[in-house]
Amino acid sequence: MSKKILITGGAGFIGSHVVRLFVTKYPDYQVVNLDKLTYAGNLANLTDIEDAPNYTFVKGDITDASFLEQLFGEHAFDGVIHLAAESHVDRSISDPMAFVMTNVVGTVNLLNTAKNSWKSDFSGKRFYHVSTDEVYGSLHNPEDFFTETTPYDPQSPYSASKAASDHFVRAYGNTYGLPIVLSNCSNNYGPNHFPEKLIPLMIHNIQTNKPLPVYGKGENVRDWLYVIDHARAIDTIYHRGKTGETYNIGGFNEWKNIDLVHLLCRIMDQKLGRSEGTSAQLITYVTDRAGHDLRYAIDAHKLMNELGWEPSLQFEEGLEKTVDWFLANQEWLENVTSGAYQKYYDSMYENR
Ligand code: NAD
Ligand code: TYD
Repeated sequence: MSKKILITGGAGFIGSHVVRLFVTKYPDYQVVNLDKLTYAGNLANLTDIEDAPNYTFVKGDITDASFLEQLFGEHAFDGVIHLAAESHVDRSISDPMAFVMTNVVGTVNLLNTAKNSWKSDFSGKRFYHVSTDEVYGSLHNPEDFFTETTPYDPQSPYSASKAASDHFVRAYGNTYGLPIVLSNCSNNYGPNHFPEKLIPLMIHNIQTNKPLPVYGKGENVRDWLYVIDHARAIDTIYHRGKTGETYNIGGFNEWKNIDLVHLLCRIMDQKLGRSEGTSAQLITYVTDRAGHDLRYAIDAHKLMNELGWEPSLQFEEGLEKTVDWFLANQEWLENVTSGAYQKYYDSMYENR
Protein backbone atom coordinates (compact mmCIF):
# COMPACT_ATOMS: atom_id res chain seq x y z
CA MET A 1 0.00 0.00 0.00
CA SER A 2 1.36 3.43 -0.92
CA LYS A 3 1.90 5.68 2.08
CA LYS A 4 3.11 9.19 2.70
CA ILE A 5 5.19 9.50 5.82
CA LEU A 6 6.56 12.60 7.52
CA ILE A 7 9.85 11.99 9.32
CA THR A 8 10.95 14.90 11.51
CA GLY A 9 14.62 15.39 12.40
CA GLY A 10 15.64 13.25 9.44
CA ALA A 11 18.91 15.15 8.89
CA GLY A 12 20.15 14.28 12.39
CA PHE A 13 22.05 11.25 13.59
CA ILE A 14 19.27 8.69 14.11
CA GLY A 15 16.75 10.35 11.80
CA SER A 16 19.08 10.05 8.79
CA HIS A 17 19.35 6.28 9.32
CA VAL A 18 15.56 6.03 9.65
CA VAL A 19 15.03 8.09 6.47
CA ARG A 20 17.53 5.93 4.54
CA LEU A 21 15.90 2.71 5.73
CA PHE A 22 12.38 3.83 4.77
CA VAL A 23 13.38 5.35 1.41
CA THR A 24 15.32 2.25 0.32
CA LYS A 25 13.15 -0.47 1.88
CA TYR A 26 9.78 0.99 0.83
CA PRO A 27 10.15 2.42 -2.68
CA ASP A 28 6.35 2.76 -2.92
CA TYR A 29 6.22 5.07 0.14
CA GLN A 30 6.73 8.82 -0.17
CA VAL A 31 9.06 10.02 2.58
CA VAL A 32 9.12 13.70 3.53
CA ASN A 33 12.02 14.70 5.77
CA LEU A 34 11.28 17.84 7.79
CA ASP A 35 14.30 19.30 9.55
CA LYS A 36 15.32 22.74 10.79
CA LEU A 37 19.01 21.99 10.11
CA THR A 38 20.25 23.12 13.48
CA TYR A 39 23.92 22.58 14.28
CA ALA A 40 23.02 18.85 14.59
CA GLY A 41 21.21 18.51 11.27
CA ASN A 42 23.35 17.72 8.27
CA LEU A 43 22.12 16.90 4.77
CA ALA A 44 25.51 15.35 4.03
CA ASN A 45 24.19 12.42 6.08
CA LEU A 46 21.79 11.66 3.22
CA THR A 47 23.69 12.35 -0.02
CA ASP A 48 23.31 8.71 -1.13
CA ILE A 49 19.50 8.93 -1.22
CA GLU A 50 18.86 12.65 -1.82
CA ASP A 51 17.83 12.08 -5.46
CA ALA A 52 15.55 9.11 -4.78
CA PRO A 53 12.14 9.65 -6.43
CA ASN A 54 10.29 8.82 -3.19
CA TYR A 55 12.24 11.30 -1.02
CA THR A 56 11.64 15.01 -0.37
CA PHE A 57 13.46 17.33 2.02
CA VAL A 58 11.69 20.30 3.59
CA LYS A 59 13.52 22.80 5.77
CA GLY A 60 11.32 23.97 8.62
CA ASP A 61 10.83 24.38 12.33
CA ILE A 62 8.35 22.31 14.35
CA THR A 63 7.89 25.21 16.77
CA ASP A 64 6.21 27.13 13.92
CA ALA A 65 2.54 26.05 13.98
CA SER A 66 1.48 27.88 10.83
CA PHE A 67 4.34 26.34 8.86
CA LEU A 68 3.24 22.87 10.03
CA GLU A 69 -0.37 23.59 9.08
CA GLN A 70 0.75 24.58 5.59
CA LEU A 71 2.93 21.46 5.25
CA PHE A 72 0.09 19.14 6.30
CA GLY A 73 -2.19 21.02 3.88
CA GLU A 74 0.23 20.33 1.02
CA HIS A 75 0.78 16.65 1.85
CA ALA A 76 -1.80 14.05 2.86
CA PHE A 77 0.38 12.30 5.42
CA ASP A 78 -0.65 8.82 6.55
CA GLY A 79 1.90 8.79 9.33
CA VAL A 80 4.42 10.80 11.31
CA ILE A 81 7.66 9.49 12.76
CA HIS A 82 8.83 12.23 15.10
CA LEU A 83 12.53 12.40 15.91
CA ALA A 84 13.25 16.15 15.74
CA ALA A 85 14.65 17.26 19.08
CA GLU A 86 17.40 18.98 20.92
CA SER A 87 19.29 15.92 22.09
CA HIS A 88 22.43 16.77 24.06
CA VAL A 89 22.25 16.72 27.88
CA ASP A 90 25.20 19.13 28.35
CA ARG A 91 23.54 21.72 26.08
CA SER A 92 20.28 21.29 28.02
CA ILE A 93 22.13 22.29 31.19
CA SER A 94 23.40 25.53 29.65
CA ASP A 95 20.27 26.36 27.58
CA PRO A 96 17.15 24.55 28.85
CA MET A 97 14.69 26.82 27.02
CA ALA A 98 15.80 25.57 23.59
CA PHE A 99 14.78 22.09 24.82
CA VAL A 100 11.40 23.30 26.07
CA MET A 101 10.73 24.97 22.73
CA THR A 102 11.63 22.15 20.35
CA ASN A 103 11.00 19.07 22.48
CA VAL A 104 7.83 20.20 24.24
CA VAL A 105 6.25 23.04 22.22
CA GLY A 106 7.39 21.54 18.90
CA THR A 107 5.96 18.12 19.77
CA VAL A 108 2.61 19.60 20.86
CA ASN A 109 2.45 21.64 17.63
CA LEU A 110 3.02 18.47 15.64
CA LEU A 111 0.37 16.53 17.60
CA ASN A 112 -2.11 19.37 17.14
CA THR A 113 -1.46 19.72 13.44
CA ALA A 114 -1.76 15.96 12.84
CA LYS A 115 -5.00 15.83 14.84
CA ASN A 116 -6.53 18.81 13.03
CA SER A 117 -5.41 17.79 9.56
CA TRP A 118 -6.65 14.21 10.02
CA LYS A 119 -9.98 15.73 11.20
CA SER A 120 -10.50 12.93 13.69
CA ASP A 121 -10.62 10.38 10.87
CA PHE A 122 -7.74 8.35 12.15
CA SER A 123 -8.19 5.14 10.15
CA GLY A 124 -4.88 4.07 8.64
CA LYS A 125 -3.07 6.88 10.47
CA ARG A 126 -0.22 6.65 12.96
CA PHE A 127 1.75 9.14 15.07
CA TYR A 128 5.01 7.57 16.24
CA HIS A 129 6.99 9.47 18.88
CA VAL A 130 10.65 8.51 19.28
CA SER A 131 11.90 9.01 22.84
CA THR A 132 14.69 8.12 25.19
CA ASP A 133 15.27 5.88 28.21
CA GLU A 134 16.51 8.98 30.08
CA VAL A 135 12.88 9.80 30.99
CA TYR A 136 13.03 6.98 33.55
CA GLY A 137 15.81 8.67 35.53
CA SER A 138 18.87 6.99 36.99
CA LEU A 139 19.30 3.38 38.22
CA HIS A 140 21.25 2.66 41.39
CA ASN A 141 20.53 -1.01 42.09
CA PRO A 142 22.53 -3.22 39.67
CA GLU A 143 19.61 -5.68 39.35
CA ASP A 144 17.18 -3.02 38.12
CA PHE A 145 16.28 -2.33 34.50
CA PHE A 146 13.95 0.21 32.87
CA THR A 147 10.73 -1.45 31.71
CA GLU A 148 7.75 0.16 29.99
CA THR A 149 6.06 0.51 33.40
CA THR A 150 8.97 2.14 35.24
CA PRO A 151 7.69 5.47 36.62
CA TYR A 152 9.03 8.57 34.92
CA ASP A 153 11.71 10.35 36.96
CA PRO A 154 13.65 12.65 34.60
CA GLN A 155 16.72 14.28 36.10
CA SER A 156 18.12 16.64 33.43
CA PRO A 157 16.46 19.45 31.48
CA TYR A 158 16.84 17.23 28.37
CA SER A 159 15.11 14.23 29.92
CA ALA A 160 12.47 16.44 31.55
CA SER A 161 11.63 17.92 28.14
CA LYS A 162 11.44 14.47 26.54
CA ALA A 163 9.28 13.20 29.42
CA ALA A 164 6.92 16.15 28.96
CA SER A 165 6.68 15.39 25.23
CA ASP A 166 5.92 11.71 25.96
CA HIS A 167 3.13 12.76 28.34
CA PHE A 168 1.61 15.04 25.70
CA VAL A 169 1.71 12.25 23.12
CA ARG A 170 -0.12 9.88 25.48
CA ALA A 171 -2.58 12.64 26.41
CA TYR A 172 -3.45 13.14 22.72
CA GLY A 173 -3.97 9.39 22.41
CA ASN A 174 -6.22 9.28 25.46
CA THR A 175 -8.14 12.52 24.93
CA TYR A 176 -8.57 12.73 21.16
CA GLY A 177 -8.03 9.10 20.16
CA LEU A 178 -4.94 10.03 18.11
CA PRO A 179 -3.40 6.68 17.07
CA ILE A 180 -0.08 7.01 18.84
CA VAL A 181 2.81 4.67 19.50
CA LEU A 182 6.01 5.45 21.42
CA SER A 183 9.43 3.98 21.94
CA ASN A 184 12.12 4.74 24.51
CA CYS A 185 15.61 3.78 23.41
CA SER A 186 18.99 3.56 25.12
CA ASN A 187 22.14 5.39 23.97
CA ASN A 188 22.84 5.01 20.25
CA TYR A 189 26.22 4.96 18.50
CA GLY A 190 27.36 4.55 14.89
CA PRO A 191 28.07 6.44 11.66
CA ASN A 192 27.04 10.13 11.49
CA HIS A 193 27.00 10.55 15.27
CA PHE A 194 27.59 14.23 16.08
CA PRO A 195 31.01 14.57 17.75
CA GLU A 196 29.76 16.28 20.90
CA LYS A 197 28.53 12.89 22.21
CA LEU A 198 30.83 10.49 24.05
CA ILE A 199 31.83 7.93 21.39
CA PRO A 200 32.44 10.19 18.36
CA LEU A 201 34.07 12.84 20.56
CA MET A 202 36.54 10.27 21.90
CA ILE A 203 37.26 8.88 18.41
CA HIS A 204 37.92 12.39 17.12
CA ASN A 205 40.10 13.37 20.08
CA ILE A 206 42.13 10.15 20.00
CA GLN A 207 42.80 10.69 16.32
CA THR A 208 43.87 14.29 16.81
CA ASN A 209 45.81 13.60 20.02
CA LYS A 210 43.59 15.78 22.20
CA PRO A 211 42.72 15.05 25.85
CA LEU A 212 39.88 12.54 26.37
CA PRO A 213 37.58 14.26 28.90
CA VAL A 214 36.04 11.61 31.18
CA TYR A 215 33.40 13.16 33.46
CA GLY A 216 33.79 12.47 37.19
CA LYS A 217 35.32 9.06 37.84
CA GLY A 218 34.06 7.52 34.60
CA GLU A 219 31.86 5.14 36.59
CA ASN A 220 28.56 6.08 34.95
CA VAL A 221 26.98 3.28 32.95
CA ARG A 222 25.24 3.55 29.58
CA ASP A 223 23.51 0.85 27.51
CA TRP A 224 24.72 1.18 23.90
CA LEU A 225 22.82 0.22 20.74
CA TYR A 226 24.02 0.42 17.14
CA VAL A 227 22.01 3.16 15.40
CA ILE A 228 20.95 0.91 12.50
CA ASP A 229 19.42 -1.50 15.01
CA HIS A 230 17.43 1.42 16.43
CA ALA A 231 16.26 2.31 12.90
CA ARG A 232 15.22 -1.34 12.37
CA ALA A 233 13.29 -1.26 15.64
CA ILE A 234 11.52 1.96 14.56
CA ASP A 235 10.55 0.27 11.27
CA THR A 236 9.17 -2.73 13.21
CA ILE A 237 7.24 -0.61 15.69
CA TYR A 238 5.89 1.79 13.06
CA HIS A 239 4.46 -1.11 11.08
CA ARG A 240 3.55 -3.66 13.74
CA GLY A 241 3.46 -1.93 17.11
CA LYS A 242 0.08 -1.79 18.84
CA THR A 243 -1.63 1.59 18.92
CA GLY A 244 -1.32 3.25 22.33
CA GLU A 245 1.63 1.08 23.35
CA THR A 246 5.18 1.92 24.37
CA TYR A 247 8.20 -0.22 23.48
CA ASN A 248 11.60 -0.01 25.14
CA ILE A 249 14.55 -0.49 22.78
CA GLY A 250 18.01 -1.54 23.95
CA GLY A 251 20.82 -3.95 23.32
CA PHE A 252 21.46 -5.41 26.80
CA ASN A 253 24.89 -3.85 26.44
CA GLU A 254 25.96 -1.89 29.51
CA TRP A 255 29.35 -0.21 29.72
CA LYS A 256 31.02 1.94 32.32
CA ASN A 257 32.25 5.06 30.52
CA ILE A 258 35.87 4.51 31.52
CA ASP A 259 35.87 0.89 30.25
CA LEU A 260 34.34 2.03 26.99
CA VAL A 261 36.95 4.76 26.54
CA HIS A 262 39.73 2.21 27.19
CA LEU A 263 38.20 -0.14 24.60
CA LEU A 264 38.06 2.69 22.07
CA CYS A 265 41.69 3.56 22.81
CA ARG A 266 42.71 -0.05 22.13
CA ILE A 267 40.76 -0.19 18.84
CA MET A 268 42.20 3.17 17.75
CA ASP A 269 45.78 2.17 18.68
CA GLN A 270 45.41 -0.79 16.32
CA LYS A 271 43.76 1.20 13.52
CA LEU A 272 46.28 4.04 13.70
CA GLY A 273 49.30 1.76 14.08
CA ARG A 274 50.12 3.13 17.53
CA SER A 275 51.69 0.88 20.16
CA GLU A 276 49.18 -0.43 22.70
CA GLY A 277 48.54 2.02 25.54
CA THR A 278 49.46 5.15 23.56
CA SER A 279 45.95 6.60 23.17
CA ALA A 280 44.93 5.77 26.76
CA GLN A 281 47.54 8.29 27.94
CA LEU A 282 45.21 11.00 26.64
CA ILE A 283 42.51 10.12 29.22
CA THR A 284 41.83 13.13 31.44
CA TYR A 285 39.36 13.12 34.32
CA VAL A 286 37.34 16.35 34.32
CA THR A 287 34.65 17.92 36.53
CA ASP A 288 31.51 15.81 36.55
CA ARG A 289 28.34 16.79 34.68
CA ALA A 290 25.82 18.48 37.01
CA GLY A 291 23.19 15.96 38.17
CA HIS A 292 24.93 13.18 36.18
CA ASP A 293 22.66 10.09 35.93
CA LEU A 294 24.54 7.05 37.24
CA ARG A 295 23.19 4.21 35.14
CA TYR A 296 20.74 3.53 32.32
CA ALA A 297 19.79 -0.04 31.39
CA ILE A 298 16.87 -1.09 29.20
CA ASP A 299 14.80 -4.24 29.40
CA ALA A 300 13.81 -4.75 25.74
CA HIS A 301 11.97 -8.05 26.21
CA LYS A 302 8.55 -6.66 25.26
CA LEU A 303 9.80 -5.57 21.83
CA MET A 304 11.72 -8.81 21.34
CA ASN A 305 8.90 -11.13 22.47
CA GLU A 306 5.92 -9.32 20.97
CA LEU A 307 7.36 -7.97 17.72
CA GLY A 308 10.36 -10.26 17.16
CA TRP A 309 13.01 -7.51 16.94
CA GLU A 310 16.53 -8.17 18.14
CA PRO A 311 19.84 -6.34 17.81
CA SER A 312 21.89 -7.50 14.82
CA LEU A 313 25.38 -6.56 15.98
CA GLN A 314 27.65 -7.35 18.89
CA PHE A 315 29.12 -4.20 20.47
CA GLU A 316 32.78 -4.81 19.57
CA GLU A 317 31.81 -5.33 15.92
CA GLY A 318 29.58 -2.23 15.90
CA LEU A 319 32.26 -0.13 17.56
CA GLU A 320 34.86 -1.24 15.04
CA LYS A 321 32.50 -0.42 12.15
CA THR A 322 31.90 2.99 13.73
CA VAL A 323 35.62 3.73 14.09
CA ASP A 324 36.16 2.63 10.47
CA TRP A 325 33.35 4.92 9.32
CA PHE A 326 34.82 7.95 11.12
CA LEU A 327 38.33 7.24 9.81
CA ALA A 328 36.96 6.90 6.27
CA ASN A 329 34.84 10.06 6.51
CA GLN A 330 37.33 12.69 7.54
CA GLU A 331 35.68 15.33 5.39
CA TRP A 332 32.32 14.83 7.16
CA LEU A 333 34.05 15.11 10.52
CA GLU A 334 36.05 18.13 9.44
CA ASN A 335 32.90 19.89 8.24
CA VAL A 336 30.88 19.31 11.37
CA THR A 337 33.72 20.18 13.71
CA SER A 338 34.60 23.35 11.81
CA GLY A 339 30.97 24.47 11.47
CA ALA A 340 31.58 24.97 7.75
CA TYR A 341 28.44 23.07 6.76
CA GLN A 342 26.28 25.21 9.06
CA LYS A 343 27.60 28.39 7.44
CA TYR A 344 26.93 26.84 4.03
CA TYR A 345 23.29 26.04 4.89
CA ASP A 346 22.71 29.46 6.39
CA SER A 347 23.87 31.14 3.21
CA MET A 348 22.07 28.65 0.94
CA TYR A 349 18.70 29.14 2.63
CA GLU A 350 19.19 32.88 3.13
CA ASN A 351 19.23 33.23 -0.64
CA ARG A 352 15.94 31.38 -1.20
P1 NAD B 1 20.28 14.83 16.72
O1 NAD B 1 20.51 15.97 17.65
O2 NAD B 1 21.42 14.19 16.04
O3 NAD B 1 19.24 15.27 15.58
C1 NAD B 1 18.09 16.03 15.85
C2 NAD B 1 17.58 16.58 14.51
O4 NAD B 1 16.41 17.38 14.80
C3 NAD B 1 18.58 17.49 13.79
O5 NAD B 1 18.64 17.15 12.43
C4 NAD B 1 17.99 18.89 13.98
O6 NAD B 1 18.30 19.77 12.92
C5 NAD B 1 16.50 18.59 14.07
N1 NAD B 1 15.77 19.63 14.81
C6 NAD B 1 16.11 20.18 16.01
N2 NAD B 1 15.22 21.13 16.35
C7 NAD B 1 14.29 21.16 15.35
C8 NAD B 1 13.11 21.93 15.15
N3 NAD B 1 12.72 22.87 16.04
N4 NAD B 1 12.39 21.70 14.04
C9 NAD B 1 12.77 20.76 13.12
N5 NAD B 1 13.89 20.03 13.27
C10 NAD B 1 14.64 20.22 14.37
O7 NAD B 1 19.44 13.78 17.58
P2 NAD B 1 19.46 12.19 17.54
O8 NAD B 1 20.53 11.69 18.43
O9 NAD B 1 19.42 11.75 16.12
O10 NAD B 1 18.07 11.88 18.25
C11 NAD B 1 16.87 11.79 17.49
C12 NAD B 1 15.71 11.49 18.42
O11 NAD B 1 15.94 10.25 19.09
C13 NAD B 1 15.50 12.53 19.51
O12 NAD B 1 14.12 12.70 19.69
C14 NAD B 1 16.14 11.91 20.75
O13 NAD B 1 15.52 12.37 21.91
C15 NAD B 1 15.87 10.44 20.50
N6 NAD B 1 16.86 9.52 21.11
C16 NAD B 1 18.20 9.70 20.91
C17 NAD B 1 19.11 8.78 21.45
C18 NAD B 1 20.59 8.91 21.22
O14 NAD B 1 21.37 8.14 21.79
N7 NAD B 1 21.06 9.83 20.41
C19 NAD B 1 18.64 7.70 22.19
C20 NAD B 1 17.25 7.55 22.38
C21 NAD B 1 16.37 8.46 21.81
P1 TYD C 1 26.49 11.41 26.04
O1 TYD C 1 27.07 10.81 24.80
O2 TYD C 1 26.43 12.89 26.16
O3 TYD C 1 25.04 10.75 26.23
P2 TYD C 1 24.01 10.84 27.49
O4 TYD C 1 24.49 11.85 28.44
O5 TYD C 1 22.74 11.24 26.84
O6 TYD C 1 23.97 9.45 28.05
O7 TYD C 1 27.31 10.87 27.30
C1 TYD C 1 27.42 9.49 27.55
C2 TYD C 1 28.14 9.33 28.87
O8 TYD C 1 29.49 9.78 28.71
C3 TYD C 1 27.55 10.15 29.99
O9 TYD C 1 27.66 9.40 31.20
C4 TYD C 1 28.44 11.38 30.05
C5 TYD C 1 29.79 10.86 29.63
N1 TYD C 1 30.67 11.79 28.89
C6 TYD C 1 32.00 11.96 29.29
O10 TYD C 1 32.46 11.34 30.27
N2 TYD C 1 32.78 12.81 28.57
C7 TYD C 1 32.31 13.51 27.50
O11 TYD C 1 33.07 14.30 26.89
C8 TYD C 1 30.95 13.32 27.11
C9 TYD C 1 30.37 14.06 25.93
C10 TYD C 1 30.17 12.45 27.83
